[in-house]
Amino acid sequence: MVMSVRNSATRRLRVVTISLGIAAIAACTATPRGASDASVANASAKAADGGKLFGQQCASCHGQRGEGVTGPAIMGPGALPVYAKESSLARNPAFTDPSELALRENARPAGAPKREPFNTAKDLFGYISQRMPMKSAGSLKPDEYWAILNFMLVAHGISVPDGGVNASNADSVSIVSK
Ligand code: HEC
Repeated sequence: MVMSVRNSATRRLRVVTISLGIAAIAACTATPRGASDASVANASAKAADGGKLFGQQCASCHGQRGEGVTGPAIMGPGALPVYAKESSLARNPAFTDPSELALRENARPAGAPKREPFNTAKDLFGYISQRMPMKSAGSLKPDEYWAILNFMLVAHGISVPDGGVNASNADSVSIVSK
């Protein structure tokens, strides 16, 4: 008799715990991440090649709107902070691949900053062209990285110069959100 009372109490506790867990997950997914559909459509029109390449080379880890999948969010509100967030992956419940975590850790010496600050389009170009796509860093042609960068910037809401961002104007294009 005592046993069965205790069992039902345990069961009730378990139900409460599970419901709380579901509520927490629902609260997380309700937070908007990534660029809006309208911004992505605008970027795909202005930088069609970049949009296509982003879909082929980047979206598997970052999502087509840059909302983050196994990699961090890289477009839209709150993305591309000047200084890297150490916990950007830890807070992403979708990040579970241990081989990617290991790759990430091996890519920099202990205690070194995760990356250089992102102030201008040139900083971002330097990062993506040397470090991405994560499992085949530097494997694309410079033109392809520039195309991807133009797509990302427009989707992120940055106004790019006529004719797009390139090697000669990238350091004058601020990507710091105001
Ligand atoms: C295999 C998965 C994968 C692919 C494919 C990939 N990335 Fe990443 N990316 C990551 C991970 C993981 C990180 C986090 C690295 C770290 O924390 O040091 C990252 C970080 C970044 C960052 C820095 C974000 C920040 O705020 O620090 C940018 C920008 C980025 N990726 C752009 C790209 C672009 C552009 C492509 C396509 C050319 C690409 N990535 C392809 C996994 C990937």
